[in-house]
Amino acid sequence: MTTTPIEFDPAYVASRSAPDAQMYYDEVNSQEPMKSVLANNPEIFFVPPKRGSEWGQWEFQPGAYYDTTVGSRHPYWRDKDLPQPSKNIERLRSDMRTWGYCKIEDALSSTQVRTMLKRVLEQAEGERLAGIAQKTPSGQNINCCVNKGRCFEGMIEQHPDVVQGGPLVEQLITEALGDGWICTSLIAAQSLKGGVPQALHQDQSNALDSNHPMTVNVLTPLTDIDETNGGTLVIPGSHLVLSEAVRNGVPVGKLPPAINVDAKAGTMVLTDGRLLHGTGINHTDTPRVVMLNGMNKPFMRQQENWMLSVRPEVLKRASPKLLQRMGFQATNGAQTNEGHGFGARGRVAEAAGALVDFRLAADRGEYVRVGQLGPDSTPAELREAFTLRDVVAKARADGSSAPVGIGGSNSASD
Ligand SMILES: [Fe+2]
Repeated sequence: MTTTPIEFDPAYVASRSAPDAQMYYDEVNSQEPMKSVLANNPEIFFVPPKRGSEWGQWEFQPGAYYDTTVGSRHPYWRDKDLPQPSKNIERLRSDMRTWGYCKIEDALSSTQVRTMLKRVLEQAEGERLAGIAQKTPSGQNINCCVNKGRCFEGMIEQHPDVVQGGPLVEQLITEALGDGWICTSLIAAQSLKGGVPQALHQDQSNALDSNHPMTVNVLTPLTDIDETNGGTLVIPGSHLVLSEAVRNGVPVGKLPPAINVDAKAGTMVLTDGRLLHGTGINHTDTPRVVMLNGMNKPFMRQQENWMLSVRPEVLKRASPKLLQRMGFQATNGAQTNEGHGFGARGRVAEAAGALVDFRLAADRGEYVRVGQLGPDSTPAELREAFTLRDVVAKARADGSSAPVGIGGSNSASD
């Protein structure tokens, strides 16, 4: 009888793994920069969510971060050259770099705004009637919008039929994130009277430090927003302060005050993933609707699990671009499916990395995965209708230039 070596015993491993013995303990477990943000800015405190029965009963604290106004009326900010609504790409780049956000004026035309707002309000009502409304501490969200109206498919694509400013928006996101970026989710966020303000936070993980963002959120108000109805709270320039603190290991000190973003419906507000921000308070009786459409680098997990959640009819009609945005395209060895997609660069419509046929086969109940095979497998077992065979054959027939699937270049072979 053999015994397992003592070094593999869980208790033994734990006994040799005190924090000071661990590799990279401080960095891996650091809660910076938010730890020092909260310690050195006591007016930034978390407002705990209320239960349904307590809706509207939270206590407004004067002087808290959410007790503020728009930049042009704020004593600290009114003389600063904060982001202005613009279609000028140089201005937008400069606002993004300096302040961590920019405002793309009229990115949606008034007709495009009306169409989408109508769909959002109808869907919100429908989800309430169905008893599946997704309440948030601030109001009601509609998640996974891609399944809930054609206009939302176009929004994820930034198709000019839905987002007239799409080409300009895409250029700015590509400059911020590099090629191949994908969409994390598309949510319609309603702030309602009685809701609590959201805690200030960064969208991108604290630990991901770089000189450029890893995520960019695209916030599109469908109703005009300002300090009265929950215009998004931001601390302009905080993207730089917080990332420098992480990079230099220096705690964040006293931050400048937050403001409410003001923007007309149809403006697209791009925010750097490092910017401190949160939902504001809606003091009015009208729902405040902002579309939240975040983008991230293709190696990062997405907020929405599109692989499971997208309805079959949406997948069947989806353009290659929409599929790529939702992650149905393997990228540089990420999100390969049974090995299909190694070598794909993640470009739109690259057959080598296209994954949607696996999902559609699964929907039909016909997805045959490759299982245990060996020298004793029977001819019938070897000839099984593995879905991988079909997908790779189709990719080859499509004449993809990149090596595909079986026997192709495999970047995992190190
Ligand atoms: Fe956020």
